[in-house]
Amino acid sequence: MALQDISPINDQLADIIVRENDPWVESEPGKAWIKVLWTGPESGRWAALFRWKKGYVAPAHKHLAAAHTYILKGKLQVRGGTLEAGDYDYEPNGVLHDATTALEDSEYLFISDGHIVFYNDDGLTSYLGWEELQRMKDAAANT
Ligand SMILES: [Fe+2]
Repeated sequence: MALQDISPINDQLADIIVRENDPWVESEPGKAWIKVLWTGPESGRWAALFRWKKGYVAPAHKHLAAAHTYILKGKLQVRGGTLEAGDYDYEPNGVLHDATTALEDSEYLFISDGHIVFYNDDGLTSYLGWEELQRMKDAAANT
């Protein structure tokens, strides 16, 4: 019996590797940085590392898709509790989150199935999705 042909039809497939010394993008001067790991234009999914200095406060937001957060370092103040190194947080599609504060210098891995929209008392202020992340990554590569 012949072996099944498992060769990829798409010959452009390749792993995407981000190195330790690849650039971080400063998203809030002196306070917050993002290292874009992967963006998926077809699905709108993306993966990134976030680095926040102690005292940084991320604004309230709504998740327009589910997300997975894994704390690598530090401590974050979140809804009625804290997340610490080694903790995992599943953030469901549609959930509202108020401000998040870095209680220590912190880093976390964030894998999102789509966009996040930020808001304040006046309404929506901005959104973050794979296109914004890809623009950040491209800009960092060109500096
Ligand atoms: Fe959140």
